[in-house]
Amino acid sequence: MTNNDTPRIIIAIDGYSSSGKSSMAKALAASLGYNYVDTGAMYRAVTLYAMRHGMISHDGQPDTGAIVAALPEITIEFRRVADGAQHTFLNGEDVENAIRHLDVSNNVSPVAAIPEVRRDLVKKQQAYGIDKGIVMDGRDIGTTVFPAAELKIFVNASAQTRAQRRVKELIEKGIPASYEEVLANVVHRDHIDETRAESPLRRADDAIDLDNSTMTIDEQNRWLIERYNDCIARLK
Ligand code: DC
Repeated sequence: MTNNDTPRIIIAIDGYSSSGKSSMAKALAASLGYNYVDTGAMYRAVTLYAMRHGMISHDGQPDTGAIVAALPEITIEFRRVADGAQHTFLNGEDVENAIRHLDVSNNVSPVAAIPEVRRDLVKKQQAYGIDKGIVMDGRDIGTTVFPAAELKIFVNASAQTRAQRRVKELIEKGIPASYEEVLANVVHRDHIDETRAESPLRRADDAIDLDNSTMTIDEQNRWLIERYNDCIARLK
């Protein structure tokens, strides 16, 4: 798809939880030969570490001081595993499945709202983009991590559609999930993500909107490739 004259760019895909942005970001990166970074997985990995080390109370309150002090001990990497999929590793351990569990989903937003956690992860995310040729998905990629990204997409779908997708995804992974519980989690996380003080979920002014509530995966992948092609044509 790309040749030597084609500029390598930064593609920022932001949006609400379970809006399908990770699947489309991953597919785009694979077809362009770009690196893919799932920044939600990074916040989830820090949350899993905090949960395992007793840094989150039973009512979901993070011990901010302890988590911030532990940041230098937390290493997050993305590595390809045997089937070619990219997995998240926390201090050398493959935590790809563990970070998708509902208990992590329930605890992640308050951890992602800690300013020092955000600053630490944003710095790492910016380092990943140093050579461009990257697709990064999250909440603040187009606004905070790469405000100068050449292509910015903001994805949304109704909370009900997103909860249905998440339930399907969890069940396919063998993780038990109820629709009501997942919907409540989606709505609750939207609220925390939108209202936190440090880089809240916000559409960048120059982002292109995508509401994929009624789109198939193929349709949204095609839509995204078209936006990429338009962007490259503009840059050439
Ligand atoms: O995309 P996700 O559901 O895996 O993200 C997990 C959580 O991390 C979500 O509640 C919001 C937070 N997050 C964030 O604050 N900033 C990002 N760039 C990515 C995710």
